[in-house]
Amino acid sequence: MHELYTLLAEYYDAIYRRRTERVGAEIDFVEETFREDAERSVRRVLDLACGTGIPTLELARRGYEVVGLDLHEEMLAVARRKAKKEGLNVEFIQGDAIEITFEEEFDAVTMFFSSIMYFDDSAIQQLFNSVKRALRPGGVFIADFPAWHYGGRDGPIVWDEMKGDERLVITDWREVEPAFQKLHFKRLVQIIKPDGNVKAVFVDDELNIYTPREIRLLAGEYFPKVRIYGNLRRELRPKESRYWLVAVK
Ligand SMILES: C[S@@+](CC[C@H](N)C(=O)[O-])C[C@H]1O[C@@H](n2cnc3c(N)ncnc32)[C@H](O)[C@@H]1O
Repeated sequence: MHELYTLLAEYYDAIYRRRTERVGAEIDFVEETFREDAERSVRRVLDLACGTGIPTLELARRGYEVVGLDLHEEMLAVARRKAKKEGLNVEFIQGDAIEITFEEEFDAVTMFFSSIMYFDDSAIQQLFNSVKRALRPGGVFIADFPAWHYGGRDGPIVWDEMKGDERLVITDWREVEPAFQKLHFKRLVQIIKPDGNVKAVFVDDELNIYTPREIRLLAGEYFPKVRIYGNLRRELRPKESRYWLVAVK
């Protein structure tokens, strides 16, 4: 569990190179949501499960005062190094998102790139409760999650990326337990060194599948205003690849 965020933390940005290149569009959408949905002006943001800081640093570049929190020091070490290189002032904290104890400190809380799927039925309720407490009145919680309840391809999907002079060959597949709404995300990353030596790391993560309706109902227990949007637009169409939860305190 979590090998992607420990053993592979230094490779995370290379594995998700294409997503890194698109993060500007994600933050454009998030800023639109800050403007249109939040009921206060957004200046201070808490980015939960911030990982290597791909969205966190983009928010900081745009002038927000950002705090990033993640469970894994290995991911935070990468995030801190990137922030220092760019001269960005972001506070990165190690911790569990469900155990945060902030009281009305943030105008917005974000949780990007399916991280909400790490939280099972009971943890997600603790998460909503802690996030609500951390938000100032009128503040907004934004989290995106994929439309994996539709079945789709279980894989394997194979692709490659470069990290410096190392080649990564990545094989992804998944095993779904529909009755329990659990998704076992499996990934084999083969790191091929320039001298031909190969190091292989196996990733095996258990994720929780949520439908948009479930997220809306669960979040509705904690937040008076809950909206589910489609991918990077403030409307929901019948077929979406990704959903965005927007919950206002
Ligand atoms: C798919 S990555 C997303 C990282 C980042 N948000 C991004 O957009 O690139 C999921 C992240 O969730 C973090 N994570 C998992 N469970 C967590 C928890 N209980 N509390 C805080 N972070 C957690 C992992 O360490 C990992 O960095």
